[in-house]
Amino acid sequence: MTAIDHLGIAVHKLADALPFWRDLLGMELVAIEEVASEKVRVAILRPKDDANGARIELLEPTAPDSPIAKHLEKRGPGLHHVAMKVDDIAARMAGLAAAGNPAMDSAPRVGAGGCMVTFLHPKQTGGVLLELSQPPAGGGGH
Ligand code: CO
Repeated sequence: MTAIDHLGIAVHKLADALPFWRDLLGMELVAIEEVASEKVRVAILRPKDDANGARIELLEPTAPDSPIAKHLEKRGPGLHHVAMKVDDIAARMAGLAAAGNPAMDSAPRVGAGGCMVTFLHPKQTGGVLLELSQPPAGGGGH
């Protein structure tokens, strides 16, 4: 399995960005949750009529040293990362490392929705911060 799981979009304020994605485009707001390890608050939106469709995750920084705060400073609001869904993230990370393309983490960490995630640096991917995301066992994710 290799499919787009979600697009991460950096925003200054969830409250300012939500009306466009939820009300104007009609996406379903699944949850708003804080990911302490990333110093970010995430609004998770999914297409109303496509349970398997890619999600939009709006990312609001919760601290000045959040990676999202740094992104906003440098580039302003906009696309922050692309996330691909994978079955076995540890195996993917091992395969990438063996091919000379190691992920930014030595082991997967817990992301939004209880997914196990890691990132590949834009230098490795042609300019896109790429998240690999393994949904939680039993499909408890979003
Ligand atoms: Co993400």
